[in-house]
Amino acid sequence: SKILFPKAIFTNNLLTGESVKCDTRKLSDLENIFLDKEAFRNMDLQQTVYNVNSLLPVKENTPGGLFFGITTIYPGKVGNEFFMTKGHFHSNLDTAEFYWGVEGEGMLIMMDMDRNVWAERMFPGSLHYIPGKVAHRVANTGYRKLVFSACWPSDAGHDYKSIAKDDFAMRLIEKNGVPVLIK
Ligand code: PA5
Ligand code: NI
Repeated sequence: SKILFPKAIFTNNLLTGESVKCDTRKLSDLENIFLDKEAFRNMDLQQTVYNVNSLLPVKENTPGGLFFGITTIYPGKVGNEFFMTKGHFHSNLDTAEFYWGVEGEGMLIMMDMDRNVWAERMFPGSLHYIPGKVAHRVANTGYRKLVFSACWPSDAGHDYKSIAKDDFAMRLIEKNGVPVLIK
């Protein structure tokens, strides 16, 4: 028998280890995501909106494997729309995913294939099951960082094209100081 070092270490909401990667999404990477183009143009496009730290212990598309990620969304708005992730369906449509809140306050926005939209509040300890065939996006509705974690099948894949083409049917904006979904 052998005693091995773990695949990765997870401390202070960050992963370190061999098969860990980190992606940063700046405002400039999210040009078509936000509604208010005018407000967008007047912002610092170099600022980071979110980053994703993930552990990919197997190759992308491996059947039966799992991926783990932790996303940090910084607080902010473009016009009255909260900073949020791009959002996606899974390329392998039937695959599901778990999200759970770690730090801060947010909203998980989901949309099924009939374009019905609903949302769940995210907070430290909230646990969310995202069924297959459901697009998912997260918005930071608070004044601090929103940190959430995710676990998904390694053969899920990310389909950003459908959202780029048809968008979510509803958006989360701040109205009279509270988050609301609007058409
Ligand atoms: O696998 C997931 O669903 C998450 O890890 C997301 O990829 C992450 O939160 C970033 O969102 P998006 O991929 O929509 O940019
Ligand atoms: Ni996903």
